[in-house]
Amino acid sequence: MFTAAVITVSDKGSVGERIDTAGPLICEMLEKAGFQITHTSIIPDEREVIECELIKCTDELDIALVMTTGGTGFSPRDVTPEATIAVCDKLAPGIPEAMRLESLKITPRAALSRSQAGIRGKTLIVNLPGSPKAVRENLEAVLDSLEHGLEMLRGETEHPL
Ligand code: MTE
Repeated sequence: MFTAAVITVSDKGSVGERIDTAGPLICEMLEKAGFQITHTSIIPDEREVIECELIKCTDELDIALVMTTGGTGFSPRDVTPEATIAVCDKLAPGIPEAMRLESLKITPRAALSRSQAGIRGKTLIVNLPGSPKAVRENLEAVLDSLEHGLEMLRGETEHPL
């Protein structure tokens, strides 16, 4: 069983002005797929804050999979992909490619997601868009492949605790 963190990136969510439904949905989907959620947070769309949170989840908490939701669009405050690229050692472009490929079958607006995925140390970081609908559709496109990727990244004998 691999550990996972879910980070909701939302200015309004971080100050309690919006109830986060995307984060809990990711937790539910990951738990159903066999992941153990060990960390969740709601943080503002601030590049430095996002980078610090990603580094904490990787270097300090050594979580296998870190999923973010929100901040992947075109609004000036959307900087989750830039923060992700900044902290990753390697990018994993096939993951967002697969998400957009499947999502484009549902809505042409899938092209507006700038989601990235990459590896820092032994952690896989994956960006998802912000709406629960987009979260479900994007995560469904890659969920089955994530475990195999993590087995390669961390070795097959994973002991999370
Ligand atoms: N992908 C899927 N599968 N379904 C969607 O409804 N919405 C798109 C896109 N990806 C969508 C999707 C829209 S409208 C935007 S603006 C981008 O994701 C970025 O979303 P974000 O700004 O909430 O991160």
